Amino acid sequence: MSDKNGVTPPMFTPFTLRGMTLINRVVMSPMCMYSAENGTATDFHLVHLGSRAMGGAGLIFTEMTDVEPAGRISPGCAGMYKPDHVPAWKRVTDFVHRTTEAKIGVQLGHAGRKAANPVPWETESDKNRWEIYAPSPIAFSDAGPVPTEMNRVHMDRVRDAFANAARMADEADFDIIELHCGHGYLLSTFISPLTNQRNDDYGGSLENRMRFPLEVFQAVRNEFPGNKPISARISAFDWVDGGTTEKDAVEIGRMFKDAGLDILDVSTGNVVAGARPTATGLFQTPFSETIRRETGIPTMTVGNIRGPAEINDIIADGRADLCVVGKGHLYDPYFARHAAHALDVDGPDAPRQYERATGYTPSF
Ligand SMILES: Cc1cc2nc3c(=O)[nH]c(=O)nc-3n(C[C@H](O)[C@H](O)[C@H](O)COP(=O)(O)O)c2cc1C
Repeated sequence: MSDKNGVTPPMFTPFTLRGMTLINRVVMSPMCMYSAENGTATDFHLVHLGSRAMGGAGLIFTEMTDVEPAGRISPGCAGMYKPDHVPAWKRVTDFVHRTTEAKIGVQLGHAGRKAANPVPWETESDKNRWEIYAPSPIAFSDAGPVPTEMNRVHMDRVRDAFANAARMADEADFDIIELHCGHGYLLSTFISPLTNQRNDDYGGSLENRMRFPLEVFQAVRNEFPGNKPISARISAFDWVDGGTTEKDAVEIGRMFKDAGLDILDVSTGNVVAGARPTATGLFQTPFSETIRRETGIPTMTVGNIRGPAEINDIIADGRADLCVVGKGHLYDPYFARHAAHALDVDGPDAPRQYERATGYTPSF
């Protein structure tokens, strides 16, 4: 995919992880849509994810897809724990593979102490509350419910649920799994010292706090074919004194790399209530850049990426290997195609049904 001078902008260079080659460096970020039924993907997911894949991104991710019912943020969250979930997801991956050049990944997660909430646009209701789990019995917010402190039986159950979900993800033909270890969900709360105050082998030092996330990663890796890559999303910085620091994040990256992780998706924050980044612009990209430079693990950067100029600079400057775009894809499913048009690049190829629009220039 090159411009009329024969030059391929960095954004449109391919990228390979294990047996998966992406046609460009644009990724649609995982985003909860609260539109599943009993965890099962619906027509909404087919159209939503299908249109983003047609829109030219090299890789699209599903929303956080929970490995057990108790791990759902809300009753509308997607799951990977019931037999019905596999054919529903396969309908989506089949469409993406048959119709587009995109790859599709599933973000597997467990909401931990942030589970059991109503769907955002529904009124608060107690009928959908269920028992929530965390490494330590600390509520997310002052008014929020206190989670059950996990014991080894709970941890085995959750680790096995992740392994089971990884097996199902392969059956559903996903190309990559992303493990959600950020944003204050279950695995993230093991990593942050603000949310993990255990006195056993799973609390205390960073090495101990990483033990359960790494056990889960290993269980997932064991179930997912060797030619398919695995990513993990982390919160590299908690934005609160006493929380995870950039130095910790480098060590987290190193531990995941040593365990065999293929790429780290570097986000920040959302670990404790009220902690909000003050920075604007590409405020998360420095964390990706540092981890990538210090550890050598490939990274994805996410947050406020607005267009091709930023993506070209990030890739060319080695600040990340992939650029993950969230809200930009909610606004414009054809984000990558429109970027190609703006850069006068001959690709990604339009779906053949749409070829008659080649050369059309809109005017709003
Ligand atoms: C509607 C919505 C839902 C989200 N759900 C998830 C999610 O399921 N998993 C996740 O890791 N991040 C989630 N996020 C965060 C995004 O993936 C992304 O990191 C964030 O929006 C910053 O990127 P952006 O500035 O490109 O939107 C969500 C964000 C939005 C706007």
